[in-house]
Amino acid sequence: MQALQYDSYGGGAAALKHVEIPVPSPKKDEVLIKLEARSLNPIDWKIQEGVLRPFVPCKFPFVPVGDVAGEIVGVAPGVEAHKIGDKVVSILGATTGGGLAEYAVAQAKLTVTRPPEVSAAEAAGLPVACLTALQALTDAAEIKLDAVGKAKNILITAASGGVGLYAIQLAKLGNTHVTATCGARNIEFVKNLGADEVLDYRTAEGSTLKSPSGRKYDAVIHCTTGIPWSTFEPNLSENGKVIDITPGINAFLTYALQRLTFSKKKLVPWFLNAKGENLEFVVKLLKEGKLRTVVDSRFPLSRAEAGWAKIMEGHATGKVVIEP
Ligand SMILES: NC(=O)c1ccc[n+]([C@@H]2O[C@H](COP(=O)([O-])OP(=O)(O)OC[C@H]3O[C@@H](n4cnc5c(N)ncnc54)[C@H](OP(=O)(O)O)[C@@H]3O)[C@@H](O)[C@H]2O)c1
Repeated sequence: MQALQYDSYGGGAAALKHVEIPVPSPKKDEVLIKLEARSLNPIDWKIQEGVLRPFVPCKFPFVPVGDVAGEIVGVAPGVEAHKIGDKVVSILGATTGGGLAEYAVAQAKLTVTRPPEVSAAEAAGLPVACLTALQALTDAAEIKLDAVGKAKNILITAASGGVGLYAIQLAKLGNTHVTATCGARNIEFVKNLGADEVLDYRTAEGSTLKSPSGRKYDAVIHCTTGIPWSTFEPNLSENGKVIDITPGINAFLTYALQRLTFSKKKLVPWFLNAKGENLEFVVKLLKEGKLRTVVDSRFPLSRAEAGWAKIMEGHATGKVVIEP
């Protein structure tokens, strides 16, 4: 089968090589999927840069990418929830990767049936970005996704990116007022997703993160980097939390210090814990029209390196999708 792989750390899009490799075989509790779409995430190029070394990739050559959608063409022993011919969406293991290929092996428990109303591209956008948004909002920030929960003020930074676009929509399923940050060209886009007010992050006013309507944030879903705690702190409510999904060393130090001092306002470093039940939940929301995937750009597998370069630039509006 056709695949793209890299042989060592670094090198960016230019280091992705087109190769012909054998179709992988599913082992116990796994399925083989013929891929119809994949979506790229910043973690894909960060793994190539070596952020998770020495654990991932555990060996080279490595076929990257974890967010995939397609049709099941093989089922190993132990799989009962899926059969050949099922249309599915899946999240591949970070250590195994495998998405930039014609076929990929996935764990059955992280594979979810995709109804006919949900296209492969829409579904492939979900796994890393939408599940991170969901868990950051519901588990870390304790927002209830129904209109009867206590009213909360939320700030979402980098709201025009993959995580942000889902975070706005999910937050608006709850009883929330959403302030979002993005660049000037994406203000209408972010409002259309449901943001109640928007800050242009490149302006002096926007960089203060101050809510235009004077609200204090109960939670921040922080999807970019380079904003110090001292900027967040005056904008938080008494028990406000910043859920930092790209925590660096300063975030961990702030977190540790706040625990030692019993601070009411908190910074919470947050990492995705992929769960099939969460994926099932967001696929259902897509089917019901309560959530949508926005595609920034589409590339065929034969030009996947162009998509890789696009995601490395960090200026996509929505998801970058790689099709057959
Ligand atoms: N902890 C986890 O488990 C986890 C999971 C998923 C993602 N992440 C991390 O979360 C981050 C966001 O991921 P993503 O998929 O949403 O990225 P993405 O789709 O690449 O984000 C790109 C968007 O971010 C906007 N942006 C960049 N800097 C900004 C800033 N300072 N203020 C406001 N908007 C800004 C860009 O707008 P402009 O073009 O206008 O600059 C662009 O629209 C990445 O660092 C990723 O690695 C972590």
